Amino acid sequence: MIYLKTNEEIELLRENNILVSQALAEVAKHIKPGVTTKELDRIADDFIRSHGAIPSFLGYEGYPASACISVNEQVVHGIPSDYVIKEGDIVSVDLGTFMKGFNGDSAYTFAVGEISDDVRRLLEVTKEALYKGTAQAKVGNRVGDISAAVQEYAESFGFGVVRELEGHGLGRKMHEAPGIPNYGLRGRGPLLKEGMVICIEPMITMGNRAIVFERDGWTVRTRDRKPAAHFEFAVAIRKDGPDVLTDFGIIENVLNN
Ligand code: MF3
Ligand code: CO
Repeated sequence: MIYLKTNEEIELLRENNILVSQALAEVAKHIKPGVTTKELDRIADDFIRSHGAIPSFLGYEGYPASACISVNEQVVHGIPSDYVIKEGDIVSVDLGTFMKGFNGDSAYTFAVGEISDDVRRLLEVTKEALYKGTAQAKVGNRVGDISAAVQEYAESFGFGVVRELEGHGLGRKMHEAPGIPNYGLRGRGPLLKEGMVICIEPMITMGNRAIVFERDGWTVRTRDRKPAAHFEFAVAIRKDGPDVLTDFGIIENVLNN
């Protein structure tokens, strides 16, 4: 069942996703050598609650924190811990909110100080793959058009596309139909209709695309322990084209200052 959203519902989803953008920007201010991922989780949790929302990840299928924080070879769903961030790390922060009956869900991968040129390109390509997918999020296209655009772009740089996890519809539930894989074929999959809201979230690896699930029950990491990046935002499909409900500009203003 794919729920189509009214304009009013899309605005509530936008409010949630702007709040997630602001929370990611707040966390970004504190991502420095010496901070623990648990401290970053606390900052995100405080920020979301003080703005009238609930951190939607906490307790989701038993998830034990408010943020997913995945460092270096961790792809997604890293559990905040006493790990101390150090120069050269890449840190994916994934946050969700729930307020006014709807959800927000977005992720951004941050570089800590100087990183190698290869890793910087991994971050740039993963974010650009998200934009390439987003450009296909229009009425009359199919999910496979988004998937193929993400996959072709990432693979053209020799990077791996994680297949076991995917994007999703976003609404009253954090995970709704349809699934949005990061690989696939143009012209296949569910038809995109006006009022659909989806999260596109490429998970891209520097080496082999194979992943393993850690025994903590959550953390996903690359099998070869090479770095991975993850960017995610929410997009509404509208008559006049894709309407991105998340604002990475809020985050990037912090990074550029
Ligand atoms: N943000 C993740 C997603 O896009 C969900 C986090 S899993 C949770 O699907 F358990 F932390 F909620
Ligand atoms: Co998501």
